[in-house]
Amino acid sequence: MARKKKSDDIKELEEFEEVPIEEESNLEDIVVAEVVKAKKSKGKKVESLEDLPGVGPATAEKLREAGYDAIEAIAVASPLELKEVAGLSEGAALKIIQAAREAANIGTFVTADEYYRKRQTIGRITTGSKALDKLLGGGIETQALTEVFGQFGSGKTQLAHQLCVNVQLLPEEGGLGKGAIYIDTENTFRPERIKQIAELRGLDPEKVLKNIFVSRAFNSNHQMLLVQKAEELIKEHGIGLVVVDSLMAHFRSEYIGRGSLAERQQKLGKHLSDLHRIANLYDLAVFVTNQVQAKPDAFFGDPTRPIGGHILAHSATVRVYLRKGKAGKRIARLIDSPHLPEGEATFKITEKGIED
Ligand SMILES: Nc1ncnc2c1ncn2[C@@H]1O[C@H](COP(=O)(O)OP(=O)(O)O)[C@@H](O)[C@H]1O
Ligand SMILES: [Mg+2]
Repeated sequence: MARKKKSDDIKELEEFEEVPIEEESNLEDIVVAEVVKAKKSKGKKVESLEDLPGVGPATAEKLREAGYDAIEAIAVASPLELKEVAGLSEGAALKIIQAAREAANIGTFVTADEYYRKRQTIGRITTGSKALDKLLGGGIETQALTEVFGQFGSGKTQLAHQLCVNVQLLPEEGGLGKGAIYIDTENTFRPERIKQIAELRGLDPEKVLKNIFVSRAFNSNHQMLLVQKAEELIKEHGIGLVVVDSLMAHFRSEYIGRGSLAERQQKLGKHLSDLHRIANLYDLAVFVTNQVQAKPDAFFGDPTRPIGGHILAHSATVRVYLRKGKAGKRIARLIDSPHLPEGEATFKITEKGIED
């Protein structure tokens, strides 16, 4: 038999790893195979999922089906996630993730100038208001999660609608030339409003509507599932914005009382990490809205605060607090931005959408 290519040998060994080990198997053979494999994989280029240790065609297919079709996607996954979708052991999943991390250069240190260059690739979507854009450092950023919170009627949903239109503008007009995904939990998405904004801004309303993919989330599990489903859409269509309006409504109504808080926060953490993952992986902006609740211990200042607790507070890249001002104006306040000064901006909601 002709000598097979080196890479074929490696694949064969990797597939061998997937076969359940029987008690009577010769342990020594397995150890030798492992050592040979480890030697061969050292310095080997990881280009497709099958190049990862222990990933044969069957596992690769399961991973791809679940949306983990890039080395980068594996690199930022958790062992538990991979265990679930591909039926791997946690140990095997961890090995795969570590190899993907090395290959994708994720989870290592980079110099600040390299990081600076990466940040230069961040896109921005205009809000429609110059003052609000300025407050946000040029608009809503890709590769980030922006949260707006505020009381009922403060303009969160309106801003979300406007962004769905604006993301479709060309980059020189303040957009990304891409479509939007809208996960609606409160049944407040209105295509009529999109049409109105588009028409009054001289855009083709039919075209604009065709580039917005809407889904109503019926409960928090469904909401989480929709983010996973969104990945398929993102790969098929150019998507620059994913809206979740509102992020906490279902979580809040389903998990009531102190006893269920830990479970809620755990699920919320997973949901947020999924959102961050798609933001980074596909260079898109994630925009979530949030409600406020009364702060019973506030004697001074604003007597409200966003819901979602520390998990959300630490997860949102940028947090914006919206409130109603005088004469129908809206005031946005930037909170906890990692690189922008705190401040306020005033804008209006009109028939045309968001304006100065
Ligand atoms: N077509 C429109 N023209 C002008 N203003 C509008 C229009 N639609 C909604 N608004 C304004 O937006 C407000 C509702 O904001 P919304 O984004 O739904 O609030 P939230 O999502 O924060 O509860 C309304 O009170 C109204 O002032
Ligand atoms: Mg709303």
